[in-house]
Amino acid sequence: MTDETGFQLQGSAPERYEQFAAPIMAPFIEAVLDTVDLFPGAQVLDLACGTGFVARAAAARVGPTGHVVAVDINEGMLRMAAARAPRMYPDIEFAQAPADSLPFEEATFDVVVCQQGAQFFPDLDAALKEVARVLRPGGRVALTTWAPKERSPYFDAQSRVIEEYGTAEETDAYRQAFSCTADRLAAAFTAAGLHDGTVHLVHRNVVTPPLDDWVPGQMSAIPWTRSLMEAGPGAMARASGALCELLAGHRAPDGTATLPFTTLLATATR
Ligand SMILES: C[S@@+](CC[C@H](N)C(=O)[O-])C[C@H]1O[C@@H](n2cnc3c(N)ncnc32)[C@H](O)[C@@H]1O
Repeated sequence: MTDETGFQLQGSAPERYEQFAAPIMAPFIEAVLDTVDLFPGAQVLDLACGTGFVARAAAARVGPTGHVVAVDINEGMLRMAAARAPRMYPDIEFAQAPADSLPFEEATFDVVVCQQGAQFFPDLDAALKEVARVLRPGGRVALTTWAPKERSPYFDAQSRVIEEYGTAEETDAYRQAFSCTADRLAAAFTAAGLHDGTVHLVHRNVVTPPLDDWVPGQMSAIPWTRSLMEAGPGAMARASGALCELLAGHRAPDGTATLPFTTLLATATR
């Protein structure tokens, strides 16, 4: 079960996602979980869980009396998520499903979280209606989608590199991933019957691993570099080198870089 319209990783890419997306994703997890006031014992759904960054943090917060279910459309991401789920937390339950057809009873969850997934749903309104259906009355949803790429220098530079080295389709799909707006999210909340919707910007300064190692890994863990991967290591090395060049002004003497990232954080109540 895959949805080719969205963020779909194949082969060993989920393993690389777990390693190379972590520096960008991890700093925003606490903001998402803080917004929904996660409490011990809560029933939580992590929607479009990927390799499980948010599900693992949520499981630690809800404790042994709580329960976390993590759903994704991509089998490879779920396999990686299950492999990384630590046994010291209450077990996280995994399920493969599209966001707009969730295999749960009405009013199952206290909280639904979704980090950097909603921009890839082919039908955002249908997905948020499903979120509303599986939330209990008074339950909360929090989701993030990246702000326009110009607000995050890494993504802005990567967009230029994909435009130069990738295909027109990849360039277009990359831009699409940054096109979700606050108005669009607020409208989808309203259409789903959710109330008290808020959308605001969250900024984090991320200290990356040394760029020369991290950039090629991160480039190989996104779906918009498939043509470069297929063209062989030389093509990926040239594109990654160009991205490092564009980021040279942010680079510290030890090769790391401190880069600002900005996301939209949207919340609502059923
Ligand atoms: C950028 S990743 C984010 C993963 C994870 N939430 C994180 O914080 O790293 C986007 C995820 O959305 C999933 N996805 C895309 N379209 C989906 C859909 N229609 N239903 C469920 N998951 C979807 C992808 O498989 C991928 O795992």
